[in-house]
Amino acid sequence: MATVSVKASKNYDIIIEKGALNRAGAIMKAAAGGEKVCVVTDDIVDGLYAGRLTSSLTAAGYAVEKFVIPHGEQSKCAAEFIRLLNFLARRRFTRTDVIAALGGGVVGDLAGFAAASYTRGMKFVQLPTTLLAAVDSSVGGKTAIDLDAGKNLAGAFYQPEAVICDYETLDTLSDEIFADGCAEVIKYAVIADSALFALLQSPVKAHPEQVITRCVEIKRDVVAEDEFDTGLRRILNFGHTIGHAVEANSDFTISHGKGVAIGMCAVAKASAAYGYCTKDCTGKIIDMVARYALPTVCPYGEPQLTAKALSDKKRRGSTIGLVVPTEIGKCRVVELPVDELSDFIRAGI
Ligand SMILES: NC(=O)c1ccc[n+]([C@@H]2O[C@H](COP(=O)([O-])OP(=O)(O)OC[C@H]3O[C@@H](n4cnc5c(N)ncnc54)[C@H](O)[C@@H]3O)[C@@H](O)[C@H]2O)c1
Ligand SMILES: [Zn+2]
Repeated sequence: MATVSVKASKNYDIIIEKGALNRAGAIMKAAAGGEKVCVVTDDIVDGLYAGRLTSSLTAAGYAVEKFVIPHGEQSKCAAEFIRLLNFLARRRFTRTDVIAALGGGVVGDLAGFAAASYTRGMKFVQLPTTLLAAVDSSVGGKTAIDLDAGKNLAGAFYQPEAVICDYETLDTLSDEIFADGCAEVIKYAVIADSALFALLQSPVKAHPEQVITRCVEIKRDVVAEDEFDTGLRRILNFGHTIGHAVEANSDFTISHGKGVAIGMCAVAKASAAYGYCTKDCTGKIIDMVARYALPTVCPYGEPQLTAKALSDKKRRGSTIGLVVPTEIGKCRVVELPVDELSDFIRAGI
């Protein structure tokens, strides 16, 4: 078992423990209090883990309601958001009651935004069940839904009372969804931790607690410096500018993790060409991505990528901030003039 303490606008613990779902009720009572819990989950996770969570909540004295969404990104939408708010209101939830988000990033983002909004903020606990949610979306306090015009366009910064990560739940993930999370794990290692990079030479599944804990600590430290995403937090976007462009070009048939994998490889190649890092460093990054059965080669040409990258909502003014590796475990942000982006991308693919 590992505990990572977060100090942000709210202080709370992230508990990373095999089997933690069985004692989640007691952990939540201590961290969040309240009388009632609304478990928010999707239809796949519901069948796998909601029963275990509900038993533990009931044993801790909570009255439990359950709200189930269809699995998949399309549920991170305004309609499900309003349906959830109405459900909470009809069941007379109050500000001191708790929303428990049991699932991947879709459930966590939607439930978190509902918790931030309902009665202007009710208690909220994250129980991530995907690797991506464990190392990324459950940490840092960003919540959101998608709008017709794009992903994550409405949301709030809202910290939970606790994050309870029972990594035993990752055993039921498909290889593909597990690999998506591995792309984010590789990202953390490249930007911040050469020892983690060395650890990843053997599979994540051989030491999940160590890997998740280290990733969460890295994200925690970055977020502590920049909770509201005004500067430093940008380093978490390594591989993401090109990654998002790949996802968008595929009409989101290429997953986020695969997009990020391709993006990291492209940036690593361009970074060697521009002299930000050595060819050896680039080779190590590409080998690592391949080791986790993630794609290393971009299926799109430079014009397609540049067009989508420039419409990215993270862009500010006449330059684009690109995170480049300088060596394994270190990175920096390069402000590239917008009209030089196409050259950079061409050097990467
Ligand atoms: N808030 C943030 O900071 C942040 C960061 C990164 C990503 N995100 C968001 O996270 C979302 C992606 O999250 P995700 O990759 O977890 O996707 P997801 O929530 O859609 O989960 C992927 C699939 O895995 C299934 N699943 C979940 N847990 C399972 C388990 N233990 N066993 C078997 N199947 C399981 C789900 O039903 C779903 O079909 C995106 O919407 C993205 O925008 C948010
Ligand atoms: Zn990501």
